[in-house]
Amino acid sequence: MPLKLIQTGDGSHTLFVYELNEHYHSTFGAVNESRHIFINAGFNYFKNITEQINILELGFGTGLNAFLTLFEARKNKQKVNYTAIEPYPLDKDIFPKLNYFDFIKDKNAEKIFLRLHQNNWNKHAEISKDFFLLKINSKIEDVILESDKYHLVYFDAFAPEVQPELWTEQIFQKVYNSMRNNGVLVTYSAKGMVKRNMISAGLEVEKLPGPKGKREFIRAVKK
Ligand SMILES: C[S@@+](CC[C@H](N)C(=O)[O-])C[C@H]1O[C@@H](n2cnc3c(N)ncnc32)[C@H](O)[C@@H]1O
Repeated sequence: MPLKLIQTGDGSHTLFVYELNEHYHSTFGAVNESRHIFINAGFNYFKNITEQINILELGFGTGLNAFLTLFEARKNKQKVNYTAIEPYPLDKDIFPKLNYFDFIKDKNAEKIFLRLHQNNWNKHAEISKDFFLLKINSKIEDVILESDKYHLVYFDAFAPEVQPELWTEQIFQKVYNSMRNNGVLVTYSAKGMVKRNMISAGLEVEKLPGPKGKREFIRAVKK
């Protein structure tokens, strides 16, 4: 799949997919978007509440969310079991070109970022003392998810306009079943259709102010 590396508004990279006419992240700022939605509204929801947190990510892609989560978890003294689903792994030549480690002040940031990508698919890996990763090379549609497992879901598929089949009641129901009670799902889309399908799947939905370039995003809770 031909891709183009581009710089977003905050200086961090993203990828443009010609075939879909779609970016992996907000062009206003990839790192800024990930921090605002996935880390601050998602991961930090569990700060001082849960010491060991199970995360499910839909769409591993560049690994940006996993990377930022690892360092945030260190700060919060939390342990993370991170399961990421990705049917279309990126070419390994692309990772060293991404500049995400410039946004983390840690001498091992680059090494850790690359480690997220070096470990094998479908195998558990210890990325650091407190961060365990399982990358599943499959579509969400085809994965069997354990029930009542995840505290937190990063729902980071391509936009509903591009991949409508992933933002359905059926997929949200599947994700809902995999979440614990009081588990949280965060996603960058706040479309009416997305919200309605989440509610039909049983989630309680709230809209929060978005990062630069986005009015709102969704945080949903399994009650
Ligand atoms: C918007 S990108 C975000 C990727 C990643 N979270 C990141 O920060 O780079 C969407 C990702 O979803 C993946 N994807 C596409 N179809 C999928 C499917 N059926 N199930 C799970 N992931 C899928 C894409 O390959 C891509 O990596």
